[in-house]
Amino acid sequence: RRLDPGVEDQEESDASVRSQEDEDEHKEELVKMDTSHLDVVQPDEVSQIPANNKPTVPQVPPPQRARPKPSSKPAVFIPVDRSPEMQEARLKLPILAEEQVIMEAINENPIVIICGETGSGKTTQVPQFLYEAGYASSNGIIGITEPRRVAAVSMSQRVAKEMNLSHREVSYQIRYEGNVTDETKIKFMTDGVLLKEIQKDFLLSRYKVIIIDEAHERSVYTDILIGLLSRIVPLREKKRQPMKLIVMSATLRVEDFTENKRLFSAPPPVIQVDARQFPVTVHFNKRTPFDDYSGECFRKVCKIHRMLPPGGILAFLTGQAEVHSLCRRLRKAFPFRKNKVEGDGDKEDTVEEISRFKKSRRKKTMTLPKIDLDSYSVMPVDEGDEDREAETDDEDIAGSDHDLDLGDDEMEEGEKSDSSLPLYVLPLYSLLAPEKQAKVFRPPPPGTRLCIVATNVAETSLTIPGIKYVVDCGKVKKRFYDKATGVSSFRVTWTSQASANQRAGRAGRTEPGHCYRLYSSAVFGDFEKFSPPEITRRPVEDLILQMKSLNIEKTVNFPFPTPPPTDALVAAEELLIALGALQEPPKTGRLKELQKAKLSCPISPLGTVMASFPVAPRYAKMLALSKQYDCLPYTITIVSAMTVRELFEEFDRPAVSEEETEKLKGKRARVVQMQRIWAGQGASQKLGDLMVMLGAVGACEYAGCTPQFCETNGLRYKAMVEIRRLRGQLTTAVNSVCPDAGLYVDPKMKPPTAAQVTYLRQIVLAGLGDHIARRIQAEELLDEKWKNAYKTPLLDDPVFIHPNSVLFKQLPEFVVYQEIVETTKMYMKGVSAIEPEWIPVLLPPYCHFGKPMEYPPPSYCPETGKIKCHRPSVFYRVGWQLPAVEVD
Ligand code: CDP
Ligand code: MG
Repeated sequence: RRLDPGVEDQEESDASVRSQEDEDEHKEELVKMDTSHLDVVQPDEVSQIPANNKPTVPQVPPPQRARPKPSSKPAVFIPVDRSPEMQEARLKLPILAEEQVIMEAINENPIVIICGETGSGKTTQVPQFLYEAGYASSNGIIGITEPRRVAAVSMSQRVAKEMNLSHREVSYQIRYEGNVTDETKIKFMTDGVLLKEIQKDFLLSRYKVIIIDEAHERSVYTDILIGLLSRIVPLREKKRQPMKLIVMSATLRVEDFTENKRLFSAPPPVIQVDARQFPVTVHFNKRTPFDDYSGECFRKVCKIHRMLPPGGILAFLTGQAEVHSLCRRLRKAFPFRKNKVEGDGDKEDTVEEISRFKKSRRKKTMTLPKIDLDSYSVMPVDEGDEDREAETDDEDIAGSDHDLDLGDDEMEEGEKSDSSLPLYVLPLYSLLAPEKQAKVFRPPPPGTRLCIVATNVAETSLTIPGIKYVVDCGKVKKRFYDKATGVSSFRVTWTSQASANQRAGRAGRTEPGHCYRLYSSAVFGDFEKFSPPEITRRPVEDLILQMKSLNIEKTVNFPFPTPPPTDALVAAEELLIALGALQEPPKTGRLKELQKAKLSCPISPLGTVMASFPVAPRYAKMLALSKQYDCLPYTITIVSAMTVRELFEEFDRPAVSEEETEKLKGKRARVVQMQRIWAGQGASQKLGDLMVMLGAVGACEYAGCTPQFCETNGLRYKAMVEIRRLRGQLTTAVNSVCPDAGLYVDPKMKPPTAAQVTYLRQIVLAGLGDHIARRIQAEELLDEKWKNAYKTPLLDDPVFIHPNSVLFKQLPEFVVYQEIVETTKMYMKGVSAIEPEWIPVLLPPYCHFGKPMEYPPPSYCPETGKIKCHRPSVFYRVGWQLPAVEVD
């Protein structure tokens, strides 16, 4: 019986010849460990122990048994040189008491589930246990996946620090960046990164252990990974290169994993880590504020700070913009810098520090060279007009985010400087720069109270020390999809009971705490128990394409922890067939058979190329088609811009003062003017909003992508930086897929020629094929509500071009749109004009063709000697007559 796979023979013998000093040193360590919880040795187990090792009193295990099975096997123990303070802090973590139980379970089972309250030490300690037990020796890697980028980065830093190892050994990899080296032993990554690795190497041969962390979050990629790994682990076993799978989760609903026969044939052992949790008193609001929870949150934090004893405050809001807005209000109410004694340690906040940070950030992201001066129109800026408020550091770096502050910035009477104790306010959300995130783990400057305003990242992924008060708005921002139409929207809704309880639990980590819920207990009673897993709530075409590229053809049979609804699977396969990513099933046979066939179509060569791009299938198709006519740099830019969404600042928000109203008006006018300029004249105009994206990115890059340029032109600085990164990344991806493209991010991305604009329109049509809309013709106008409206194949209701679109007034007959958002009406965003004769050529799966001979008589082409005939067609579902196509 190999109880300790993952450790190769070579090292076992190495370990057996370890020096005596080594041995003693480790023995000392081992003796130090708490062994009180060790299993009592069973008689038959004792009899297996070789005679010379037989303990004299079998019931009392000798201290050597502190390491798994040392008697049957020499212990492989890789020493870690921790600082005494670190070691002391570690020993306080509840999970340390379970080390033996955990390691024994892992040694004896290929798959283990570890459940434990947030903060019990799962993420930071389990990788260390494995490292010490030799799972990262001889080129093996311990991989840990996180659903959030914040956690991947900060946990790798934390573990490196605890183990006294460099970032070369404990590294991270997230979508845009990483510090993995050849020496990496412990690798934190986002779940999407591991999925991509499975595509390259299905057996993940370099990993000895994969830990899926935060499995309770049930992110789509986590779910898929668990499904895939449930198959990879037995395969590795068969190949005699065993790999361990460890699923870690907060104490929530593990039955989806354990009681799922399709997933694991035998239920894996579950190890429960009991965390010390101090009691948390939950206070409900009498009344539930329906709109202004941000304002309510502000008032509550102020009250706590003024009236309650010391202890950190953690406030939960729903999004980045709200977080910043509340931070700003709190800083105004309890100014920190004012009360600051010179040189009291909070150096990060000084202006020089910020500008240095910004500079370094700029340097890091300046991978794209500048763009030709004359190529992009940049309107002259009247410097004197600039009237920017002094901004706080965070906003400076975060750029101009939508400000959802509802305009009630006025402080309540007496709130301004009531407390003598300054409040040390820090924001925390996923996309915050790692340097800024790290601040929440450090103790606040002496004489201040820590107050963290966070999104739900602070719910389970990160444990912030010293929190005594939690303020929970009860809301969460979620993306909603309409399955039938694909219309998506972000909505703020009530969270689940499980999440609310998690949030409350953050208050009782170090001492008894309090949680203030800004809603009534009746409202809480109506919350769902758990949020349904993400996979059941969103379209899955991207996942299906990834799975098909892994040769998983029958996606319905895939062992999903919770399977997506069958109609979502069918819709995904239909879209992929229409995009040409999957091979179309033969159109013969009965409907039932056809439907069945549609759920097991193999991937096409085009699909394989598409799957290699890290973007949604619609965009991947655009990239795949763009090699022609040197369109790639433009498509990469358009796709990056569409992925990032919302390039422009929102000016429709309510203003606080008349002065601000005027300012917003002025800005808005300027943006409209700029958009018109960027949309260009003639041919380029027809590319519509996508041309604006190209123009904006081009002009911004020419200007060096500065916050000033963005501010002046109403662009979101953060979005522009993100686009720049994505452009670089997609360029690399394209180069690796088609090495002969020889693409580099063109230092002079000149505006596209008229011909290129036309190709781009066709490329966009080919990718967004199911997002076509046609303007209602005068003679079809039945009802006033259809005036200037468009009809789409998917919706019965009229849709309109968004007023912010440059095509709003032009109303072309046929358009494609990036997405429909529903506000007062259904609005199309990201609109381009297309020509109807392109449709049957570029999107044949969406067209029903007549018989070739039924339409204009065949014509003879003297140059090619071919006879061409014509095929008329109609567009699916809506029956629009399309121009005939010539076929040979
Ligand atoms: O994964 P789990 O929620 O079980 O706990 P963890 O993330 O491993 O955190 C264990 C402890 O390490 C917590 O008490 C955190 O406060 C602490 N920690 C820290 O002090 N600094 C970090 N950067 C990360 C964790
Ligand atoms: Mg964790």
